[in-house]
Amino acid sequence: MNPTVTDATAGSPGGGGNGAATVPTGSAAMPTSTGRNVTIRIRRQDGPDKPGRWEEFNVPYRPNMNVISCLQYIAATPVTTDGRQTSPPVWDSGCLEEVCGACTMLINGKVRQSCSALVDKLEEPITLEPMTKFPVVRDLFVDRTRFFEDLKRVKAWVPIDGTYDLGPGPAVSQEKNDERYPLSRCITCGCCLEACPQYTPANRFVGAAVISQVRLFNEHPTGAALKGERLEVMMGEGGVTDCAKAGNCVEVCPKEIPLLESIASVQRQATVHAIKRFFNR
Ligand code: SF4
Ligand code: SF4
Ligand code: FES
Repeated sequence: MNPTVTDATAGSPGGGGNGAATVPTGSAAMPTSTGRNVTIRIRRQDGPDKPGRWEEFNVPYRPNMNVISCLQYIAATPVTTDGRQTSPPVWDSGCLEEVCGACTMLINGKVRQSCSALVDKLEEPITLEPMTKFPVVRDLFVDRTRFFEDLKRVKAWVPIDGTYDLGPGPAVSQEKNDERYPLSRCITCGCCLEACPQYTPANRFVGAAVISQVRLFNEHPTGAALKGERLEVMMGEGGVTDCAKAGNCVEVCPKEIPLLESIASVQRQATVHAIKRFFNR
């Protein structure tokens, strides 16, 4: 994934900056306002080491609006409820349909995607904060590099040798496909990491999403070529044994991935791997 930053200072709608999402400037993109306002409170932070502050905005209500459409309005009209001009808030987004995971933030204290959070279903004022387990870049935009580096550490991919035609891949049973498919639905949003008491900025725990990807790729006939290397990481610092199995991760996963099953499966695999390694010394 290659996250983009939405920043109204980037320029005209649909262009400029870091490939920013379009900031609507007229009424064509949305239905007409109803006269009611939605109150949005945003946790602002100008940079990684800057102090945080709250700012409150009123956004004209429109039926079926989501949190990102509120942010787009505020970015185009960055004036607080007490009439003070401020900078446009910054957040991350991509697909706008709960596929890329980039727009994840705390909405009324709950971690979720802002593109699928409908205003009609939220209590007001709506509070928006950045996730707490990743460093803040600015405002609601966090740096999830640690997550992607951990996916690299466990080699969360199927290895292929070259880009030439390798012919058809190995046959996989329907039963195995049915088991693996839910795991492939991970959108790397980080909700499970945000909710996990064991995942903190001070430690190296990889968290439920990465463990689940270990299971996904270990159970692929070609991906299994790297199974031993993945399990070595799982048995090391920050690996699967650091999980306390409280299950917070499952509660917040937007794709309902069976994370506790994955954790149990990888723990079993790691135990077998450790026994084999002991006898092969
Ligand atoms: S079961 Fe608990 S400790 Fe383990 S990954 Fe999920 S939230 Fe974290
Ligand atoms: S496992 Fe679920 S909560 Fe965790 S990153 Fe993937 S989709 Fe998000
Ligand atoms: S913008 Fe991709 S999940 Fe929300």
